[in-house]
Amino acid sequence: MSVNKQMIELFRASSTYINAHRNKVFVVSLSGEAQADNNLANIVYDISLLHSLGVKIVLIHGSRPQITEALAAQGKQSDYHRNLRVTEPDCIKTIKQVVGGLSVDLEALFSMGTSNSPMHGADVRLCRGNFITAKPIGVHDGIDFQYTGAVRKVQTLAIEKELVNNNIVMLSNLGYSSTGEVFNLSAEEIATEVAISLGADKLILMIPADGVLDASGELIKSLNEKEAKNHASKLSLSGDPVELCIGNAIEAALRAYSHDVHRSHLISFKKNGALLQELFTRDGNGSLISNDNFDQLRPASINDIAGILALIKPLEETGILVERSRELLEIEIKNFVVIELEDSIIACAALYPISKDSGEVACIAIHPDYQRDGLGDRLLINLEKTAFGKGFSFLFVLTTVASHWFLEKGFEQSEVDALPARRKNLYNLQRKSKVLKKAIS
Ligand SMILES: CC(C)(COP(=O)(O)OP(=O)(O)OC[C@H]1O[C@@H](n2cnc3c(N)ncnc32)[C@H](O)[C@@H]1OP(=O)(O)O)[C@@H](O)C(=O)NCCC(=O)NCCS
Repeated sequence: MSVNKQMIELFRASSTYINAHRNKVFVVSLSGEAQADNNLANIVYDISLLHSLGVKIVLIHGSRPQITEALAAQGKQSDYHRNLRVTEPDCIKTIKQVVGGLSVDLEALFSMGTSNSPMHGADVRLCRGNFITAKPIGVHDGIDFQYTGAVRKVQTLAIEKELVNNNIVMLSNLGYSSTGEVFNLSAEEIATEVAISLGADKLILMIPADGVLDASGELIKSLNEKEAKNHASKLSLSGDPVELCIGNAIEAALRAYSHDVHRSHLISFKKNGALLQELFTRDGNGSLISNDNFDQLRPASINDIAGILALIKPLEETGILVERSRELLEIEIKNFVVIELEDSIIACAALYPISKDSGEVACIAIHPDYQRDGLGDRLLINLEKTAFGKGFSFLFVLTTVASHWFLEKGFEQSEVDALPARRKNLYNLQRKSKVLKKAIS
């Protein structure tokens, strides 16, 4: 395939995801390590692109390694307990300076819009504020964590207002107490609590690995809650900092999951474009922790039209399916059922009433990546049940290439004359479709 054609195909394939993600709320956690990585500018471009495509973004940035470095430069070293820094009062000034500097650096990156940069014309507006009320985490195992804090409250309405105003909301790992003190928190914790309080559609955790890996080092593209818990408990025992970081990200995802944020993505901050690949391609490029690794068969709605069109267009172009315009689909959408997987329509089929006692199965299409998996069978069984419920005694199908598939599903060879009169008049003689019929009971 030529580069141009490949680009066109890619762009078209991503349209389903563009439509699915529009106006959705994504909370992104960007650790201090991610900000120190060479790939940071690309991540910022990609977040800006998401924003340009109508995704509502809340970005939380951390500062752990930068704080450690700044304190070390002053000859100070923090104690850690339960993987958390004990924040001494005399460190707070440095922490505020470091975090402030990182926030400003990110603002500068988001503001880049020179004509030779990918963000030319993006006009991204960031908004920062005291959206996190913090409390001290207190004394644990006899250790006073002092200025290490936890989230007490998220100013949800204020954040939502900024998102409605088309701003990216950027938060740091600092929170503010009602007594006017500043607390040092973990960015992952803030991201998780913000995602929960907003009822976000996705929590995205940028990590220093491709995602969750199996025993042979292969990327696990999706995990359900149980699988995620198994991995988290193994990784939390690891002495390896990267594995610990993945373990923490899974823990954050699981907490979000148990509070109704049912999709968290663990995505590499080291890989250029991993964020876009994960969100806009079927194959992804990270690990998704969700409750819906399983597809969902359901009646179609008007919101599915873009997905259905993307699915059937290639089949229309090769003449396998009859062309349907968007307008026609809008009128006929109530006849359709779809199978959705991870925000994308992977299969569809329709049942049209064609007489008092018969219906026609049409537009059955399974995305090539998901064929031979029984989805066609499931759709057909579903339509047969609906037809039965409507009191139909017969189902017809007109097909040019799939007659044997339908024969195997109990249809029988029939002829044009067997069609109800109204449908017979519309029979397209040039397509020479085979007519098959099935009695339903
Ligand atoms: C035909 C189609 C709906 C079947 O869906 P599916 O989910 O792949 O089917 P299932 O998993 O239920 O069944 C798979 C079996 O059907 C067979 N099959 C698939 N397409 C077939 C066809 N056109 N003719 C005969 N058999 C076919 C497969 O070879 C497989 O059999 P096998 O396991 O013995 O190899 C799907 O392949 C599709 O969308 N095709 C393109 C669109 C199309 O032709 N639609 C029909 C228009 S009326």
